[in-house]
Amino acid sequence: MRKSSAAAKNLPPRSPRKKRALVKEDEQLYLVNKFGNGRTDQVLLPYNPLPKTFFSSRIPSPFPQSFIYRGSCENFLWHAKRQQQKFDLIFTSPPYNLGKPYTNYSDDRDLDEYLEWQEGIITDCVECLEEKGSLCWQVGNYISNGLVVPLDIELHPIFKRASLKLRNRIVWHFGHGLHCNRRFSGRYEVVLWYTKADDYKFNLDPVRIPSKYPKKKHFKGPKKGQVSSNPLGKNPTDVWSNDDGAIEDVWDIPNVKHNHAEKTDHPCQFPVGLVTRFVRALTDQNDAVFDPFLGVGTTAAAAAMWKRRFFGCELNKEYFNHARTRIELAANGLLQFRDPDKPIYQPPQISSEAIAS
Ligand SMILES: C[S@@+](CC[C@H](N)C(=O)[O-])C[C@H]1O[C@@H](n2cnc3c(N)ncnc32)[C@H](O)[C@@H]1O
Repeated sequence: MRKSSAAAKNLPPRSPRKKRALVKEDEQLYLVNKFGNGRTDQVLLPYNPLPKTFFSSRIPSPFPQSFIYRGSCENFLWHAKRQQQKFDLIFTSPPYNLGKPYTNYSDDRDLDEYLEWQEGIITDCVECLEEKGSLCWQVGNYISNGLVVPLDIELHPIFKRASLKLRNRIVWHFGHGLHCNRRFSGRYEVVLWYTKADDYKFNLDPVRIPSKYPKKKHFKGPKKGQVSSNPLGKNPTDVWSNDDGAIEDVWDIPNVKHNHAEKTDHPCQFPVGLVTRFVRALTDQNDAVFDPFLGVGTTAAAAAMWKRRFFGCELNKEYFNHARTRIELAANGLLQFRDPDKPIYQPPQISSEAIAS
């Protein structure tokens, strides 16, 4: 019998090489198993590693399973790919590299390093996207030494390399933010909406907004005298704003600042109203919605509200715990969120005489 090289050299046999730990010990998985029958089963499970049956919930069931995971999305996606888990909608807002005070994560990387990191995650996400599914990346501007780096422009080549097709670049305009001295104050962010295929899900009717002139009629032709606008409302367009009417076709979605009904201690959560429109337009009930950078769980909460399954990952323990609470509230119809139809506060108008004096 041939001796191993270690035995031949009279060395102790090498211990099998340790596999890189894929899940940190304190990582947890939270399972919410709720829907339909008013019963809530909640189980807090420590996992190391994630079980093989983790993603076994593709079969439609009256109690579809949903998971949020405390740990990195890189880890989660590694398991998702191996288990061929697919999501119908991936909606997220990654850290913008703005130096925000996240406790477990450096939000101040070199731009190339940041983009490389994002590319790894985006590539994995694309692999986990259903053929008819959508992927939405909500980003703002990265500021580096006073220079504005629009993250959507930087990230778009990554999505193109992944063969995704851009369907909309939504401009989400809002009223609050830092006041700048050496440039105009930034008041918008964008949502890049991509699909994998040309045959994708898009449900316009649930997200139509009231028409400006709902009673307007055709004034000539065979339909003369009939109401010309869709009775369900109009398409909300790709510019979404809480502006005072300067942009037509606006949707009132203020960003989550201090007095906002949804404010937690997270430095940059997005509003439920923003993600709700995507959830309703791009998925059907029971579809799987995934947010790799879950924060305080806004995407998952919106998905739960509209009876979609939800998956998400968050590194930070406090945000994860907030997410858990908010999702449970949402699943029970108790989450406080800002009604997108509520009128926006209008500051009193200053007369031109007052300005001149
Ligand atoms: C822009 S915030 C998302 C906020 C979220 N949209 C909300 O409404 O709460 C990005 C989040 O990603 C988390 N994060 C950063 N790196 C991560 C990683 N590798 N895996 C999972 N979460 C991560 C941060 O802790 C932060 O809460």
